[in-house]
Amino acid sequence: MVESVPKSICDAYSPGEATPLNKLSTAELCAETVTLKLDETGKPKTVTGDDFGDSSPVFCTLADGRPGVLKLERPKSMCELKQLEAWWAHQVISSDIMDRLGCHSVHYREAHANYNGEVLRGTACELVEEMQELAGNENLLQGLQDPDRAILGTVVCAWMGDFDRSIKNENIWFDKNKEVIYGDYGCAGLEQINAFGVMPKVNRKLFASAATPENVAAALEKIRGLSNRAIHDMVRQGARLIPTVTREVLQEMTATLIKNRDQLRQDKSWGLDLIGPAQTDSYAMPEKIAAAFLDRIREKYGDDPNRSSAEIARLALENVPGYGPDKGKDINLVSLQLSNALTRRGENGQAKIELLPDCFYAWMQLAKKIFTVDESLALGLGLKHRGL
Ligand SMILES: Nc1ncnc2c1ncn2[C@@H]1O[C@H](COP(=O)(O)OP(=O)(O)OP(=O)(O)O)[C@@H](O)[C@H]1O
Ligand SMILES: [Mg+2]
Repeated sequence: MVESVPKSICDAYSPGEATPLNKLSTAELCAETVTLKLDETGKPKTVTGDDFGDSSPVFCTLADGRPGVLKLERPKSMCELKQLEAWWAHQVISSDIMDRLGCHSVHYREAHANYNGEVLRGTACELVEEMQELAGNENLLQGLQDPDRAILGTVVCAWMGDFDRSIKNENIWFDKNKEVIYGDYGCAGLEQINAFGVMPKVNRKLFASAATPENVAAALEKIRGLSNRAIHDMVRQGARLIPTVTREVLQEMTATLIKNRDQLRQDKSWGLDLIGPAQTDSYAMPEKIAAAFLDRIREKYGDDPNRSSAEIARLALENVPGYGPDKGKDINLVSLQLSNALTRRGENGQAKIELLPDCFYAWMQLAKKIFTVDESLALGLGLKHRGL
């Protein structure tokens, strides 16, 4: 007989609350239970103000009673759920590593909530009160009390392979003391400290205004000095916050972080070109990557011999999302570059593309469209998780 459970200890899986959930594994039951904050219509209240959907950060109360944010994902299949669990693991472990290395970060853990009998799963963290994003608040960079710590955070993120704040200023956050606080590790755990093998994965705006040769060197020293054992242990310590984590994910993440550390040890001048106002305008895309782009695009969209390079480029970029306040500007530029590069490739076999940092996001999205995960890994693009 199922006894009624006192309200105070009800969690998302309490008997009588959500019958289909009795099938859930012990690991899933062990994640933190959070309570959703609902709007007037009874729907979870999203942090971004968008409609509640299958993938939204929503307001919640954490198990300890503090206000929090649940980043939930509603999988459509068991296979997708397993991919999500692996992806959550990367994010949760990354935030724990950030904290352990002294960065200012929110703390993610695996979490679930009961929404009218449906269990919503994802990762939760504490709410950053009065948070402001760097996008639109660039002036806040001038008043940082602790620029060294902000730089440490962006360098550690780069080591973890996370490129999603390199130009995306929505992913650099300020807390109510106007200090940089890190969160959103959706791309962490990827291979390579440099996007496309050439562009350091740090936030360019933050680097230009807060990086000094000293604070960059100190951050790098910290990471270069990590032993394999230390990395192995940090990954396992982070794993305590994600009960569904698998051994494969832990092994793979450890191996990636060791590889990325080795790159930082070898690349002695890493990041130095991004310090101060004299920033690099562009990076030559490695020839192997440029050739792979051009040849795949010709193969996919150049089936008609009468089609011009410009038309092939346009087809390739169809539905590729742009980034930035003037969305589409980057896509137009990439389209032009692609068209010229396709022509050159056809005329003399050259595979030359200059990567402009502001267009990096568009190239990444294009890569996602035309390469498989295995191909992208073989090229060193590191686009290996779901959704990346
Ligand atoms: N813990 C938090 N406290 C306050 N605001 C938050 C918190 N987490 C997220 N937000 C707000 O919601 C926005 C979206 O959250 P987040 O970046 O985690 O989600 P996302 O969907 O992965 O974003 P992206 O579009 O970068 O992939 C953030 O930029 C921030 O403004
Ligand atoms: Mg984000």
